[in-house]
Amino acid sequence: MEVTDRAQLIYLPKIEDPRGNLSFFENSVQIPFDIKRMYWIHDVPGGASRGGHAFKEQKEFIVALSGSFDVVLNIGNNVETFSLNRSYYGLYIPAGVWRHLGNFSTNALAFIVSDTDYSETDYIRDIEEYERHVIKSN
Ligand code: TYD
Repeated sequence: MEVTDRAQLIYLPKIEDPRGNLSFFENSVQIPFDIKRMYWIHDVPGGASRGGHAFKEQKEFIVALSGSFDVVLNIGNNVETFSLNRSYYGLYIPAGVWRHLGNFSTNALAFIVSDTDYSETDYIRDIEEYERHVIKSN
């Protein structure tokens, strides 16, 4: 696995089988960190948006286990949109990247794994604070 510390799509193993396909990921093998926590976003009403923040420390890996949605990243001055719509690849997001999730399909299921416990103090929820933080750390 070659993963630089930038946001990128990571393709997972896909074991094809006439009985149904199987995919998986393991700590530090397919994804570049050890998993401490997992959560999922489901039953998203039409037009809703999630996220809208950055993390100071935590890294995440996001998979669309079902349906589809977009992950929009602000990296410096660039805005990049990743459409997730298959369960055999996901998006790795390093620390320090502002993101939001939107354009959810009906029955979309976003599965997210993180390398830290939940900590509200790790969130940057204010875009101006984020911009200050990014500028300061560059
Ligand atoms: P938040 O990460 O702000 O949601 P979004 O996906 O929109 O960014 O989480 C919403 C609330 O859920 C937050 O106020 C606290 C709670 N929460 C936990 O208790 N544990 C968790 O692991 C997560 C991700 C959220």
